Amino acid sequence: MASTFFLTGASPLAAAPPKQSRFRLRPRLISCSAAKSPNSSNPDPATPLPKVDRRNILFGLGGVGLMNPMDAGANPIEPPEFNKCGTATNLNTGKPLDINCCPPVTTKIIDFKLPPVGKIRVRNSAHRVSAEYTAKYNAAIKAMKSLPDDDPRSFKQQANVHCAYCNGAYDQPGGGKIDLQVHNSWLFFPFHRWYLYFFEKILGSLIKDPDFALPFWNWDNPKGMTIPPIFLDSNSAIYDVNRNQAHLPPAVIDLGLTGNTDPLQVVSNNLTIMYNEMLRGNSSVYDFMGKAYREGDGPNPGPGASERGSHTSVHVWVGDTRTPSGEDMGNFYSAGRDPLFYVHHTNVDRMWVLWQYFLPSNKVPDKRITDPDFLNAAFLFYDENAQLTRVTVKDCLDNLSLGYEYERIDLPWIDYRPPPQTAKAKISRIDTGAKTATSATLFPLKLESVVRVLVPKTKKGKADELLVLENITVDTTKFLKFDVFINDEDEKPTELDKAAYVGTYAQVPHKTNAGTATTSIQLKLTDVYDDMNVEEDEDLIVTLVPRHQGPGVTIGGIKIIANPNPTKAAATTSS
Ligand code: C2O
Repeated sequence: MASTFFLTGASPLAAAPPKQSRFRLRPRLISCSAAKSPNSSNPDPATPLPKVDRRNILFGLGGVGLMNPMDAGANPIEPPEFNKCGTATNLNTGKPLDINCCPPVTTKIIDFKLPPVGKIRVRNSAHRVSAEYTAKYNAAIKAMKSLPDDDPRSFKQQANVHCAYCNGAYDQPGGGKIDLQVHNSWLFFPFHRWYLYFFEKILGSLIKDPDFALPFWNWDNPKGMTIPPIFLDSNSAIYDVNRNQAHLPPAVIDLGLTGNTDPLQVVSNNLTIMYNEMLRGNSSVYDFMGKAYREGDGPNPGPGASERGSHTSVHVWVGDTRTPSGEDMGNFYSAGRDPLFYVHHTNVDRMWVLWQYFLPSNKVPDKRITDPDFLNAAFLFYDENAQLTRVTVKDCLDNLSLGYEYERIDLPWIDYRPPPQTAKAKISRIDTGAKTATSATLFPLKLESVVRVLVPKTKKGKADELLVLENITVDTTKFLKFDVFINDEDEKPTELDKAAYVGTYAQVPHKTNAGTATTSIQLKLTDVYDDMNVEEDEDLIVTLVPRHQGPGVTIGGIKIIANPNPTKAAATTSS
């Protein structure tokens, strides 16, 4: 599997020019939107550069503003019209799928009512469940698989729920012919919470155990970083043959998809990734949850840190490389066919619970989105009685009111802040090299190999700043991933457990009408500055390391901005 992800172009960095000359020679940087650079003292970008020689260091600054998630909205996303469900598309080929993933059509729709508070179902770690539980879980999935295919509660129809909501089978109601897509936006966590809720309720009703709870795949804890062994029995109902055979236990899940083969290094990478996406890199609740997505918006406005990070990696890591499109887990249309999908997503859902209720408020920005277009967004699911049910985001915000919680397990990543990298990674050690680039030629940047970009900070000294990668245009039909490092010069890009690693963009293949999507990500640098002794520097070197092969990502600009939501000391703990 390691060979699937390649690294190129990382050249050794040696001695550096004096800082001052670097600063003087920085060209005026233009953005893809041609916004005026505030720094008029810089030379014109059209003027050929003097001999600036910094191998592999490219000069960059983007221009357009961040998409503001609070921009005045339209209306919430409405549920799809099942009677207008169309052909879904194979993400990788762009051709119509030869399966029909549309649900049975029913005219009667009921509104979901929160259940009376009763016994709380506890979702346990799949690595720790008893033989007795495993037998029950198997019996429930088996019963679901035994239902006729046209029963909306059947395993086949449940798997198709994901296909239909994720592969362009539905348009947004309202006639604009705009795909409805539940990934890569603030709908990601709520949609999947509801999906799991009904899946679990159907299982419980099939085995007549209303307290039945799904397990979760505890991939964020070293003790859970293999495919849970209960899924390996080829005679069981929770087995799936379409999994990457090189990634069966004891293979340690590689949440960074770095291809590093040392299991201890991979565990350390994984804990760093979790620390980053849960605690270190988010400046607002949207950075974690995903960007706003309202009626009339094109699909894929932008995933949050958790969705584009660990969530994507687990899908791709499990998907079978012998199949044409990474089936089952590595492709949205087929992911729901593997019972592992549902325990992967219970852990994803657990991350949302942890974010809301268990992470320290001084580490996590706002915990909740209060925008009515978020709260009133709605979906349709068949419930355990095969009744088509309309649900809203606001009814799923609290897991306890839906009647379930998660087993309490150590969170070894919560204190996994990387050690300070003070002495070594100073920007002053940058090489003088041969390659020169102006921003005019650099952006839009097609990311196909390792690239380094020199990006000015907003000010010298200690600062609360964000790194912004904007106008990231992706081919939505491909697996794509790149990691972002700051002032990293140790030439070991498969080691992420260091202060220099700041974040990730990654996507599971999915289809949109346009075939591409454009988004931006922002990564909070506050801790990075503390850990890397960069206060006195005027610039940072941003290194982008692709983990996919071939083209598919274009980056419109990179810049550093002041944090618009300044890091606050402490907020009230939510509920
Ligand atoms: Cu709906 Cu993990 O994807």
